Amino acid sequence: LTVQTNKIGAEIQPTMYGHFFEDINFGADGGLYAELVKNRSFEFPQNLMGWDTFGNVTLQDDGPFERNPHYVRLAAPGHPHKRTGIENEGFFGIGIKSGEPYRFTVWARGENQKIRVELIDNASMGETQVITAKDLNINSKEWKKYQVVLTPNVTFAKAHLRIFLDSPGTVDLEHVSLFPVNTWKNRENGLRKDLVQALADTKPGVFRFPGGCIVEGTDIDDRYQWKNSVGPVENRPLNSNRWEYTFPHRFYPDYFQSYGMGFFELFLLAEDLGAEPLPVVNCGLACQYQNNSPEAHVKVEDLGSYIQDALDLIEFANGDTNTKWGKLRADMGHPDPFNLKFIGVGNEQWGPEYPERLKPFVEAIRKAYPDIKIIGSSGPNSEGKDFDYLWPEMKKLKVDLVDEHFYRPEDWFLKSGSRYDNYDRKGPKVFAGEYACHGRGKKWNHFHASLLEAAFLTGVERNADVVHMATYAPLLAHVEGWQWRPDLIWFDNLRSVRTCSWYVQSIYGHNAGSNVVPLTMDKKPVSGQEGQNGLFASAVWDEPTQSYIVKVVNTSDKAQQLNVEFAGMKKSFQLTDGKCITLHCDNPDAENTLDEPDRIVPKETSIGIEGNTLDTQIGPMTFAVYKFVK
Ligand code: AHR
Repeated sequence: LTVQTNKIGAEIQPTMYGHFFEDINFGADGGLYAELVKNRSFEFPQNLMGWDTFGNVTLQDDGPFERNPHYVRLAAPGHPHKRTGIENEGFFGIGIKSGEPYRFTVWARGENQKIRVELIDNASMGETQVITAKDLNINSKEWKKYQVVLTPNVTFAKAHLRIFLDSPGTVDLEHVSLFPVNTWKNRENGLRKDLVQALADTKPGVFRFPGGCIVEGTDIDDRYQWKNSVGPVENRPLNSNRWEYTFPHRFYPDYFQSYGMGFFELFLLAEDLGAEPLPVVNCGLACQYQNNSPEAHVKVEDLGSYIQDALDLIEFANGDTNTKWGKLRADMGHPDPFNLKFIGVGNEQWGPEYPERLKPFVEAIRKAYPDIKIIGSSGPNSEGKDFDYLWPEMKKLKVDLVDEHFYRPEDWFLKSGSRYDNYDRKGPKVFAGEYACHGRGKKWNHFHASLLEAAFLTGVERNADVVHMATYAPLLAHVEGWQWRPDLIWFDNLRSVRTCSWYVQSIYGHNAGSNVVPLTMDKKPVSGQEGQNGLFASAVWDEPTQSYIVKVVNTSDKAQQLNVEFAGMKKSFQLTDGKCITLHCDNPDAENTLDEPDRIVPKETSIGIEGNTLDTQIGPMTFAVYKFVK
């Protein structure tokens, strides 16, 4: 390999490696969103889904929050030895940790009443055990928010929350909520700390949300509506989830979107991660896999409110506090703008109905916000078919970037290291917005799949002049409630695991560099076409650390001799502080799991260099990064 150190090439965008978040696989409610109570507002279609009731409980519908009107009334059970109460099962149980405080809150009304709030184990011992409990006095004729903190002294993944009336009389309860106090940045209505940490640890440059297919909805009526996801959480209406059902054996009739983690929280998360927020809005079409009938499409002439939603979203993110939506952002606690630069319109819309709807969005956004970069969408579809007519359409509309998705098998990833080598340099840039190698017919996160993703990303990096963003998908999955695999991070109620693909994305994120540097292999420009001897490579210059970084992926099953020459430097110059990071596993089918999370992790060693030429060997099936300071 020869690195042409004196020819600093295209800039690598700070957005290059990032995350795509969607509420799939219980990624939001039951996952990243740290709320532990399911159906806290009693608004699921069967209002008591997720709840057991006992004694004298009735459902009422004239509560204090107009968009979530239902609540429960607990009345005297009619006998001193009986009880009235409710019990919540959480999301596959409620995960609690010994010594950790949990904040229970409830909106309630009642005069001189007392409720008992308990975390219980109602299954594992063959009888119900109370883990921890506290009384809460309710004394207000009007609705009022009450809270109590519970600190269990055991760790348990499957607790339930039980609340019962402990006084004669009546109590009304609404928006029953339980959060760990120690959420990410200790925010109320916060996010699960270990999961946000896993996102932050890859050093993401862009954060796309809220989907994916849920932007479109099963039907247009249950598309993601960002305006419903902001303002006080108690009054955010429930939405169904397009991922409630995927295959006959994988459906979760109790999978809904509470919008508790809505657009404000998502913008805040992007800010915390140091990533550019990239919201996607609906373009007047439902999810093409669910309902692609012409009757389901919003007519082009009726797109007005959809376009207004997009414009208002930009105002919500960036508008000053005198504007309607900028003021709401300020009222929610963020007077400073979020500095939104990108907006996606539509997701995986592949028919001619898409460009004709995208057009009026582009016109309106350009007119009102000429600096905002617009992201359109293209193939390939789930069979790997590229839509030749869509790219020209995107060019005609002059979108800034085009979002391409790849859920493809190993041979596709092996061939696609060269995908961008011949892309038109004059058209829109590329956002490889959803990629994942679905290897060997097994849709799971085995090592070999992640190695091929690493190989594919060398092609993305070498073509950084045209590819500006790349994000793996899907991001999160609950081990007991997934609809799609592989995924970047798996979790249960207490633990999480970073997959090999996570490590690949993270290695790229931490070694992104600032400029591409030309690289040849055996004197020929590096091409990703099936690799050269199974080798894929790219090289970058990193201005802040003044280093050259060379990434090499050996997809073959043989160790290979590597001679990396850093050409074009003065003879007297000596590169220093050599570092080599490798990701390897002898078993291509192995994976990281919750029980064995560190089975496949990168190793870092110091390496020396003689006269600016590195002589080394790369092991079989290895992703290696070599880094030297100039
Ligand atoms: O990531 C899962 C789904 O895959 C996304 O919602 C969609 O964009 C794609 O089909």
